[in-house]
Parts: sequence; C-alpha cells; structure tokens
Amino acid sequence: MNRHVFDSLEMTGIRKSFPGVIANDDISFSIHSGEVVGLLGENGAGKSTLMNILYGLIQPDEGEIRLNQSPVNFASPRDARRHGIGMVHQHFMLIPTHTVAENIALSLDDAPFFDPVSVINDRLDVCSRAYGIHVDPKAFVWQLSAGERQRIEIVKALLGNARLLLLDEPTSVMTPDEINEFIGVLRAMTAAGIGIVFITHKLEEILSVASRITVLRKGRLAGTVRPASKDTNRSGDTAVHDGKNMETSSGHDEVDKAALARLMVGRELEQIIPGKSPPEDDILFEVENLTVMDDRGRTAVKNVGFTIRRGEILGVAGVSGNGQRELIESLAGMRSPESGTARLADRVLPLDAGARAIFESGVAHIPEERMRFGTVANMSIQENIILKAGHRAPFSRRGIISFSAAANRTTEIVNEYRVAATSIVAPMKNLSGGNIQKVIVGRELADHPALVLAAHPTYGVDIGAAEGIRSHLRECRDAGGAVFLVSEELEELFELADRIAVMESGRIVGIVDPRTSSFGEVGMMMAGAHIPGRAISSGDKP
Ligand SMILES: Nc1ncnc2c1ncn2[C@@H]1O[C@H](COP(=O)(O)OP(=O)(O)OP(=O)(O)O)[C@@H](O)[C@H]1O
Ligand SMILES: [Mg+2]
Repeated sequence: MNRHVFDSLEMTGIRKSFPGVIANDDISFSIHSGEVVGLLGENGAGKSTLMNILYGLIQPDEGEIRLNQSPVNFASPRDARRHGIGMVHQHFMLIPTHTVAENIALSLDDAPFFDPVSVINDRLDVCSRAYGIHVDPKAFVWQLSAGERQRIEIVKALLGNARLLLLDEPTSVMTPDEINEFIGVLRAMTAAGIGIVFITHKLEEILSVASRITVLRKGRLAGTVRPASKDTNRSGDTAVHDGKNMETSSGHDEVDKAALARLMVGRELEQIIPGKSPPEDDILFEVENLTVMDDRGRTAVKNVGFTIRRGEILGVAGVSGNGQRELIESLAGMRSPESGTARLADRVLPLDAGARAIFESGVAHIPEERMRFGTVANMSIQENIILKAGHRAPFSRRGIISFSAAANRTTEIVNEYRVAATSIVAPMKNLSGGNIQKVIVGRELADHPALVLAAHPTYGVDIGAAEGIRSHLRECRDAGGAVFLVSEELEELFELADRIAVMESGRIVGIVDPRTSSFGEVGMMMAGAHIPGRAISSGDKP
C-alpha cells in the first residue's frame, strides 16, 4: 500500500464492547479524499472509541475496515500511521518539559538518528508553507496555550505524512480566533486531498466545514446527513465542495442545527431561558491589587481588582493568554500571587497556602486542565467524588469513612448529570472525556459553595449536558453564592453572567452589563479598543 495515496476508507459493522457497555454497535462509517466528515454524538456515544479502532489503538470485536477498497487490519497505531492515518487525541499527549521540535522528533516513526531537530525544522517550513500552519520549534510545550498545543499535534500528524487525519475534539480548547485559523488550515489540507474526520460538540462549526456528518447515539449509528446548503461561492473551499457534490448524489438528508441536535439526542431539546434574579447588594467576594506572574516569569495579571456580590455571576471575557488563566489559578491557590488580597465574606483567602486551604475556605474550582488537576485517572468515580472532601462530613465522621455517604453522593451526581458509566466504582479513566468533565462539575457544585471559580466549565460536553451545567451554575448563584466564570464563548457569558469583565494584557479593561452590551462591543474591548464610558468603575460598583 502506498501511503501517499488516499482515496477512500470504509468501516462496516464495527462492534466493540467494554465490560458492561457496548461502545460501538454495528457502526458504518466512510470518508473520501478531500472530504471533512463530522462525527457527532452525546458524551459517551462512542465517537472516540470508533476513531481509536480506526487508529489501531483498540481492536474491534467485529467489523471490517477497507482502505482504498482493500481490507486492512491495524494491529497498532504505528501500523495505522504506516498506512497514512494520523490521529490527534482528545487529551494532550505532549511532554511539557520538552521543546516543540523534540516532541515532534519523538513522535516520528522515521525520525533521523543524527540531529533530528534540524531535519524537523526543514520539514516544519514545508508544512507551514503548504497548509498555513505555523509553530515555533524552539518553544517549550509548557509555555503554550491549549490551542497552540493542539496545533502541534496536527503538525505532528502532518509530518508523519498522514493522508487521513482523525481529529478528536480539536476545537474544544481553542479560542474563536484560533478556530478561524484552524478552519483555514482544514481547507488547505482538504484541497491537498487529505481526508479529515472531525469530532466536535459545536454544531455550527461542523455545519460550516463538513461535507457529511455521521451521528452516533448511545453506541449506535443514528444516521449520516449533509449540512443544509449554504453559500457555495466562497473562495478557497473547492475541495470541501468536491466532497459534497460527490455525496449529494448518494441522497443523505440535509439538516440544520436543530435537526442535527434532534438526531444526536433522539428528542427535542428544550430551550430554557431562565429569568435572572438580581444579585443582592452586599459584596461577597472582593479582589484587590492582584498581581500574578506567568510560567515564564512575566507579569500576567497586573494589579487587578473586582467585586462579586452575593447571588451574582461575574463573567470574564478575553482572548486567551491575557491573564485569565493566571488570575483564576491564583484565586484557586495554585499559583502564589506577587501581591494582592482576596476576601470571601469577612475572611481573607490564604492565596499563598495552596489549593487545599482555598478549598477549605469554601471555594470550588472547575479547572481548565481537567486531566491534570481535576481528577486521578486510576481512581474510581466515587473516589474522585470524595477526593477533596473525603475527610469531613458527610463522607467522614470521627475519622471513619462513610462509604454509603460517598456512594449516595456519587449516585446523585451520576443521575443528575447523566454521566454515562457502568458503575460508580468504574475507574475514572474509562469514562469518555465529556463524562469526566461532568463528574468534576458535579463534585465541585454539590454543596453550593460560597464561591465558584469556573474555567470553561462546558469544555467538551455535549449540548444537552452544557445546558445542565449552566443551570447548576445558576443554582449556585441563586443559593447566594458568587460565581467567577471564565469562558471563551461569548454566547455562554451573555447567557449566564450578570456582569462581564473584559481582560486584555493582564488588566480588566472594562466591565459591561450583558443586557445593554453586545458581542461587538465586548469583542472590541477584547482587542484592546477603549470605549468611552466603559471605564472599569462604571459597572463595578452596584
Ligand atoms: N477503556 C474503556 N473501558 C471501559 N469502558 C470504556 C473504555 N473506553 C470507553 N468506554 C466506554 O465506552 C463508551 C463510549 O466512550 P467514548 O469515549 O467512545 O465516547 P465519546 O463519544 O468519545 O464521548 P465524549 O464526547 O464524552 O468524548 C462510554 O460509555 C465509555 O465509558
Ligand atoms: Mg471522546
């Protein structure tokens, strides 16, 4: 098989079960050269499993894979790569302490023995010219944003000569700007004949780039459809439309966003737009003069101050990398600030005393990197639920662990958030990505904490579960808590927040009322434009 030629791939009758669950049940899937095919479904529907099978990471129980019409059987990812298949996983697999070039060298099956880094630099140049995808080979991975890491993963696959690229939720962690750039790269790749399987929970996104969309529901094929036709005169996306024309004749139904959502969940999604109860007058959380360094020793948060009232959600908008991450980490006790104070009710938060001390002060934290900070992969769901609060009531009384209390709480969370799991003692690592996120959110919000620090709480969860998480955040607010919400999604901020603070270059450049502001205005502030009358003080005090 010549790996430089990719024409088509078909999977038929794929079946895979894990103890207690059928992850893939008689799934058929196909993709052609130059095509972007979306793979959609709720958390736990079986998307990652299907792609892991195609990539040779796991073996199917039944079914057939044909590449360019010939049956193939991938015993390992290396084997799949040899056939021109590349994969970017849902969770990062880069080594943070190494440079980008070193990471790429480690990943290549044919990395040259002598001076691999300079060979890789040459290949990176070729890749950036061909697809418009740029990376800095000398940067250390720990210095990069999540979106930049995702780009490295894609480059890794391209340098490995992938002709069929499997992307498992590549955009969950990207900013809107990074997504636009990424879509440009997708078009360049398809124009060059590469096939792309694209898993995402963002329906608009997939409707705009895919020629076909395959939807899974609870391990079964719910259908393969086409995006409802749209403007076909845009330049630069001919290859995508080639794919589309090819499939039009095969008669897949055309869908819009609502129809796609219905196909995913098997029922109508209700749109709940709840009324907001106005925040109370008293200030519950107050931050003053906070200055925080980033990993590179530069000032990331510059003398920031704000207040959150009892019963209020303060949203934070900003292009990622403008200090939001360092701000929330310092408030969570994970990064000691250079200076500044934070007060919750009448107590000063011990920002220098570590995450545990902050948690004990009544602060919940939904972290950005859930696999690194939120959970322990080898422990069970139940152990993860009591990970932080296991030493106190109701989970522990006079030093004795109450297994029934732990089991009850876990069952409640699993039911409430509809976590797809075979049992509450299943290891966390067996859960799908979105279900891990639901467990963390459920654990953190269970006791209606006084302060919730939430970084991108709906990353990687399906649309139904995202709505559930938003309504739990509202409940925390309505129970009199203060919620600090960092999100890349302006829709989410406008829907949830009582006020939106905009961060730019480490400063809060303004605070707006979402009822009287617009995406455009917030976007301008994010880009550093100063808008008269939107000084920091205008919205800050009730
Ligand atoms: N190694 C494993 N052992 C046991 N169960 C597993 C394993 N891998 C996946 N599963 C189960 O298989 C089902 C499908 O999981 P999969 O990861 O494919 O879902 P997904 O569609 O990718 O979801 P998400 O959108 O949350 O990433 C889930 O119920 C999951 O818990
Ligand atoms: Mg997945």
